[in-house]
Formats: sequence, C-alpha cells, structure tokens
Amino acid sequence: MVFLKGVSALSRLRSRVKQHSSLSNSVRWLQMQSSSDLDLHSQLKELIPEQQERLKKLRAEHGKVQLGNITVDMVIGGMRGMTGLLWETSLLDPDEGIRFRGLSIPECQKLLPAAKPDGEPLPEGLLWLLLTGKVPSKAQVDALSQELRDRAVVPDYVFKAIDALPVSAHPMTQFATGVMALQVQSEFQKAYEKGISKLKYWEPTYEDALSLIACVPLVASYVYRRMYKDGKFIPMDDSLDYGGNFSHMLGFSSHQMHELMRLYVTIHSDHEGGNVSAHTGHLVGSALSDPYLSFAAALNGLAGPLHGLANQEVLLWIKSVVDECGENISKEQLKDYVWKTLNGGKVVPGFGHGVLRKTDPRYMCQREFALKHLPDDPLFKLVSQLYEVVPPILTELGKVKNPWPNVDAHSGVLLNHFGLTEARYYTVLFGVSRSIGICSQLIWDRALGLPLERPKSVTMDWLENYCKKAKAA
Ligand SMILES: CC(C)(COP(=O)(O)OP(=O)(O)OC[C@H]1O[C@@H](n2cnc3c(N)ncnc32)[C@H](O)[C@@H]1OP(=O)(O)O)[C@@H](O)C(=O)NCCC(=O)NCCS
Repeated sequence: MVFLKGVSALSRLRSRVKQHSSLSNSVRWLQMQSSSDLDLHSQLKELIPEQQERLKKLRAEHGKVQLGNITVDMVIGGMRGMTGLLWETSLLDPDEGIRFRGLSIPECQKLLPAAKPDGEPLPEGLLWLLLTGKVPSKAQVDALSQELRDRAVVPDYVFKAIDALPVSAHPMTQFATGVMALQVQSEFQKAYEKGISKLKYWEPTYEDALSLIACVPLVASYVYRRMYKDGKFIPMDDSLDYGGNFSHMLGFSSHQMHELMRLYVTIHSDHEGGNVSAHTGHLVGSALSDPYLSFAAALNGLAGPLHGLANQEVLLWIKSVVDECGENISKEQLKDYVWKTLNGGKVVPGFGHGVLRKTDPRYMCQREFALKHLPDDPLFKLVSQLYEVVPPILTELGKVKNPWPNVDAHSGVLLNHFGLTEARYYTVLFGVSRSIGICSQLIWDRALGLPLERPKSVTMDWLENYCKKAKAA
C-alpha cells in the first residue's frame, strides 16, 4: 500500500525553474526569487555558509574558554548541569522554559501562522523556524505543508514490517519498527555509499529529514488504526495541513481536535539537546548514521517511563485515582492518594523535571487550551486539583528539585476529552512531534560538520584514586 502519489517538492521546483528559463531574464529572476523564498531548502542553502563561518570563528577565538567545572556529582548524577552539547534549534531556561530559536511558547502562538485567525500555530511553521531561525510567512508555511504532503509516501514494506509484530506489541515498538523500515529509502545512505563529499552531507540529510517528518504521521496513524480501529485506515486529505491531517488519519475530524493536534505537535517538538531522545538522536547521528537510524534510536529513548512514556503513565494514574475515589474527589482524598503512590516507591507522573524549576510553559498552554475548550471536563478539573495538591507534597519530601507539573501532566486529559482515550498510544504522538526537532538539528549537525560524539568515561576506582590524590595535593 502506498499512501499518496508523491512527486518531491524539489523536483517540482526544478521543473518550475526549467519552465521559467524560456521567459525573459527579468521576469525569470523575479519568479525564481519568489519560488526560492517559498522553498525551505533554498533558504537553508543561503544560511549555511554564514553559520559555518560563525562556528569556525567561535572555535578559533574562544575554543579554550572554560564553561564550568565538572564535579564527581555530575559524573555520577546523569551529567546534570554539565554543559556539553551544541544544539541550535532551542534553548531551555530552568525558570522560563523552552525557547524555540529565541521565541517562547506564547510568542510562537502569537507569531507563527495558524490555520485560522487566533488559532494554534501550524507545526510546519515551527519546523521552518527551527531550521532557519526566522518566522515564516503564511505562504512559506503553505509551501512547506505542500512539500510535506508530497513527500508523504510510505512503501508497503513498512506496513508489512509493522504487521509482522503482534497487534498487542507496545505502540512505540510498532512505531519505531516502522521508522526503521523507512530507513530503506535513505538518501543519505545512498549518497554516502557513492562517496559524497563531507561538505555536502547536509543535502541528503535534509532530504531524509523532511521525508521522515512527512511520513511519520502515516506510520503512526497506521499503528493506531491497526491496534484500536480494526485496521480500517484513513488516507491523507490533500486539503489539510500537517497537524490537521495527522488528526484526520487517526480518525478525529473535529475542528477542536485538529487545533489540539497542531498545538500538541508544536510544543512537544524540541526541548534543547540534553533530554534522552534529543541527545540520542544527536549521538547516533554523530556516527553519520542517517536520520532514520538516528530518529529510530531517539524513539527508543522516548519510550522510557521517565521520559516520553510519562504521558501514558499520567492518564493511567489519573484514571486509577477516579477508579478508586470517584470523580468528585476531595482535596484530602487526593492528598492520601498521592502519598499512597509515593509510599509505594513510585513517582507521581507528570511532576518534576531534569532541568526546569518552575511550572512547564508547555503545561500552561495546554491548561489555557483546556480552559477555552473543555472547562467542565471532570478529568481536567482533577488535573487542576493536582496542580494544587502535588507540589506541596513533593516539596515536603525534601529531595525533589522541581515539584511543579511538566508537559505530560496535561496532554492525556486533553486527548482523552476529544476521544483519543488509548493512553498506551500517547507516546507515539510525542514521537511524531519530536521528529521535527531532532531532524532539524540533525540537518544542522551535518551542515556545521559536528564531529563524532565521544565523551570520556571513568570507573569508580578511577574516581576514588583521583579524589584521594586531589585531597592530598
Ligand atoms: C522527570 C524526572 C525523571 C527528573 O528526574 P531528576 O532530574 O532525577 O529529578 P530530581 O533531581 O528532582 O530527583 C531527585 C529525587 O526526587 C525524586 N522525584 C523527582 N520527581 C518526582 C516525582 N514526580 N514523584 C516522586 N519523586 C520524584 C526522584 O525520583 C529522586 O529520588 P531518589 O533520589 O530517591 O532517586 C523526575 O522528576 C520524575 O521521575 N518525574 C515523574 C516522571 C515524569 O513526569 N517524567 C516526564 C518528564 S518531562
């Protein structure tokens, strides 16, 4: 089964340029300029040399500047607070939250083009922003939407690879399997086998990255429909944007669910470079593994309960609260349930963060969405109660560095409200969104010629001896 008759946007652009060559010179220049304005690849091609120069200068002038001390705590403690990665697409401030190319989430909601006035940002706009650092026009976003639709062609063997798994396999296992199968079409791998110059690595990386981003909603919706809707698949709708189409292929046609999906895909896309999925994608890519291999590896990290699986855990946990205490739960009952969870040696899912030290702005914008679209939903009311009850308890524990809710504390309740009730599937949605951030950075990794990642590791013996010597000195 092949979804869509896709002709790549690049070849459409080339044929357009060919047609224009028969026109007079000035008209041709104008028309070519406007098509290159709308073409993301051309925009990047212009940007890359200046950024390469910038990095070269930074290294030449400041290569030996120290960025801090590495302590034993950091080495044992999961490298928290250790600056060790270059990640261009976004930056996380512990108090303010994420900024995509300098823009906060509320700024993105205000500035990025939407499907309708005052609507949620279109994820294609965020992709453009992450790749170029520039806020795109609606025309540029529409051109990118079209390019992604054109690239959304999934070969039959991908679905067959998924079908080889039991239908009960975790949705993330099915999704990652599908992404691995997509790798067969990697342009980077083909170009590398033909001996492409390292100066051109970014070009086939771009091809793979954009095709991967285009194809993952098809693979993800295939998994959903296979698992939960008797294998009745819904083809893409050529009139819809990326987020709207994903929602449509999952089987949700309401305007509100389309808006939710646009918001969801936008805010989950990137969270700087050190989180497990982003770092994994970058690390694997540093071996010159192509974007499919790198992103499949990232998905396996996202599937962990302390990372992307937390959104599944949150909804299941909230439902377990309702099962035990009912929907009209008092504050005291809720407190008892939170303590019961903690005393059982479990974490309260959806609270805490490795870097953030305040309420996650991704939580806040989902809360605003809920206040606008589903203020009376009983589970939303429970989520609001948890926002009051959980932080003081986690603070009382004394060891939790951030007692506030994170992105995962909210998303499940929104999806559940619009009918996407299968919590086990939620991390796949997160994965579709992450393709945008991880693939954008992979293009820049290759454009900037970033090297193989290879930090030094040590043993406990080594640390003990080093510390003894340091004390004696
Ligand atoms: C996100 C998370 C993994 C960050 O981990 P971290 O950086 O190690 O967090 P901290 O430094 O604050 O952890 C210190 C201690 O507090 C505990 N803690 C942190 N968040 C907690 C929570 N929500 N519930 C209970 N305990 C928590 C940790 O388990 C750790 O305990 P330990 O010393 O006994 O191992 C952690 O907060 C967590 O497990 N949260 C719940 C899962 C979740 O929502 N994940 C999604 C993240 S976006």
